[in-house]
Amino acid sequence: MKFGYFDDAAKEYVITTPKTPLPWINYLGTNDFFSLISNTAGGYSFYKDAKLLRLTRFRYNNVPGDSNGKYYYIKDGNTVWNPGWMPTKTDLDSYECRHGIGYSKWNSSKNGVSASVLAFVPTDDTCEINQLKLTNNTDSVKELKLFSYVEWCLWNAADDMQNFQRNFSTGEVEVIDSTIYHKTEYRERRNHYAIYHVNAKIDGFDTQRENFLGAYRDNHDPEVVFDKGACTGSIAHGWSPVAVHEITVKLEPGETKSYVFILGYCENPDNDKWESKNVVNKKPAKALISKYQTDADVDKAFAKLKEYWDNLLSIYTLESSNDKVNRMVNIWNQYQCMVTFNMSRSASYYESGIGRGMGFRDSNQDLLGFVHLIPERARERIIDIASTQFENGSAYHQYQPLTKRGNSDIGSGFNDDPLWLIAGTSAYVRETGDVSILKEIVPYDNDMSVATTLMEHLKRSFDFTVNNKGPHKLPLIGRADWNDCLNLNCFSEHPGESFQCFGPSEGPVAESVFIAGMFVKYGEEYAQLAELLGDTAEAERARKEVKIMYDTVLEAGWDGDWFVRAYDAYSNKIGSKECEEGKIFIESNGFCSLAGIGVKEGLAEKALDSVKKYLDCKYGVMILQPAYTVYHLELGEISSYPPGYKENAGIFCHNNPWVSIAETVIGRGDRAFEIYKKTCPAYTEEISEIHKTEPYVYCQMVAGNDAYIPGEGKNSWLTGTAAWTFVNISQYILGVYPTHKGLSVDPCVPSDFGDFKVTRKFRGATYEISVKTNGSQKGVKKLIVDGQEVEGTVIPFVEGKKEYKVEVVM
Ligand code: GLC
Ligand code: GLC
Repeated sequence: MKFGYFDDAAKEYVITTPKTPLPWINYLGTNDFFSLISNTAGGYSFYKDAKLLRLTRFRYNNVPGDSNGKYYYIKDGNTVWNPGWMPTKTDLDSYECRHGIGYSKWNSSKNGVSASVLAFVPTDDTCEINQLKLTNNTDSVKELKLFSYVEWCLWNAADDMQNFQRNFSTGEVEVIDSTIYHKTEYRERRNHYAIYHVNAKIDGFDTQRENFLGAYRDNHDPEVVFDKGACTGSIAHGWSPVAVHEITVKLEPGETKSYVFILGYCENPDNDKWESKNVVNKKPAKALISKYQTDADVDKAFAKLKEYWDNLLSIYTLESSNDKVNRMVNIWNQYQCMVTFNMSRSASYYESGIGRGMGFRDSNQDLLGFVHLIPERARERIIDIASTQFENGSAYHQYQPLTKRGNSDIGSGFNDDPLWLIAGTSAYVRETGDVSILKEIVPYDNDMSVATTLMEHLKRSFDFTVNNKGPHKLPLIGRADWNDCLNLNCFSEHPGESFQCFGPSEGPVAESVFIAGMFVKYGEEYAQLAELLGDTAEAERARKEVKIMYDTVLEAGWDGDWFVRAYDAYSNKIGSKECEEGKIFIESNGFCSLAGIGVKEGLAEKALDSVKKYLDCKYGVMILQPAYTVYHLELGEISSYPPGYKENAGIFCHNNPWVSIAETVIGRGDRAFEIYKKTCPAYTEEISEIHKTEPYVYCQMVAGNDAYIPGEGKNSWLTGTAAWTFVNISQYILGVYPTHKGLSVDPCVPSDFGDFKVTRKFRGATYEISVKTNGSQKGVKKLIVDGQEVEGTVIPFVEGKKEYKVEVVM
């Protein structure tokens, strides 16, 4: 069952009912100012950091869900309604929400009045614009009241939810004309404030929540709107500051009136904070407001945003006979890659924005699907991430985006982290050819006095694995590897103890076959970077270590029909026939195979056959089988989840592409694509009532076969699935892969995929690539570049050449 449809020409998903199974959200913002916005206008806004600089308040865990946002109340006689349906939930005569690329739109109507709202964050300013148009479709004059509503968050979103004894006394605002200034804590250590402005004369305002809502009432029935009909002019002193504008709207038959609302973030220099005593310096606010005074201003900014995205989305485009794949590749998958790059795992409807900041491992992987879009930003991110690495090559697991400092609560000891830095950097250099990044001087733990080149950072990443091996000569796992829930050294026994950070992080015994797979893949990529810098001795050393690891995996990491997952702190196997539960895992099988381990020995094929046999289900490939049914102290969080959920036998969408990529490595295009389809939103759209999350983006987890409701998705948007799936479809299935020497084209498609075309912008040139598949799954028979046949699969890169016409015959 569907709750909307894709409008591919407009690059929008059109939601046709507000009653979606879960809030279906979108992200506004490209640089520093961001808003989360749901199909019922819920959500919140922040500047740079969802924890530290939160502008508006949201209530996770509330009933009804999704119950705070940027709301407009339209009062028409005795009827009060909202264009986004929430919070009054008044039945609408028509409703439509269009989530587009960096904007959302509503078209709704009630009793002959239609409202359209366009919400977006302009590319150049730190604000969200809402353009609200009201039209009278009746034959008589309509006298309406319009009320806007946002509830301020007192900046630090964590403190805002906890420290009421203080916070109920700190709130401060100013109101000048149609602008409400939120200036809590500005008198002391802050130099920023927020504004909520409308480009019209207002008839009233409120800034104290209680005055607007009334005691024991809610934003679904504010007293001012329903009973009083007019604002009270309250000025918040403490308690809960809000911003409400009241506007009287008179519409002649057929008339439309338009309003521009600006929710903005403003900063002043420390020595220029005040206009006069306790009166905020409003210069930055006035400058911001003056830019968006008219509909024409808004149209211009909106056109600029569209152009920004059209440019980005022209870097990789696909034309094939498969609409679903086209739409994911050309629009939604790349869009989600941008969002995950911006947010890491910080702010979504499932990540509260106050927990994790940027993840070392997560951000490096997010880069893989983003680097072609804006390589300069990927470059900056790589340097930021590397700056939180330790001198011994290990790394802070997370850092706060605002301070760019490592988070010591969670600390380090996740032994896959270092290798992901090689993955991210290699992807950047292959994309851009910019080796200068490798020579960039980068600190350790933000300490410039011990800074080295980025290449030296990568060496330490590489050597961290070399120097931290266990009894089987496999990499030590530490607190966890990619699977945060495989906590082999923690032995967390009491509720409330962190699964990941409890116990000794440097377990000397527990080992990870998954990290071994990573080492083989990224060790080779490291060797290639060394070669690029002319350091052949280092490349040779690296390849020797890789070879040793390869052999070790075949010796100690092979279980007969698949790859072992790990060894626990007692050196017992995990993910082996010997185990009672958790006999086979996806990660080691996917990653070792995609790294090429066991391919020539025929073992990768065997492992992937086992994955199909034991882990496949209707909705994707499960992370392990059989599920753990009891808590295992020696395994940790993985066995804490009920069977079928999350890391305990859920379908963790992130590593489905690893298996799909591995299938392309051994040339099985049909199977690679079958796996791609199972978790692909454009395909799961049809079962939205089961899947529940947004049908235009990936979610982190889909419940597996053992779950109460198999197929139910959770934790949409912020997942490495976005990047890995884009890598899979664009570089492995469609096969357009950036190498240091140039673009390689080596597709691996299902036999019925048909011919296709890819346009790829790469290092300043445009490649028009046409592929004739001839029913083949893999294997390039002919590569013709500008009429000349070329050996192999790599299109030779010619400096300065602007256009390449490429024909590929399979
Ligand atoms: C979450 C984390 C990611 C981890 C994965 C598996 O998605 O963000 O870092 O690899 O879970 O545990
Ligand atoms: C929990 C989750 C995992 C996530 C981790 C982040 O362990 O199950 O998916 O990566 O928390 O801290």
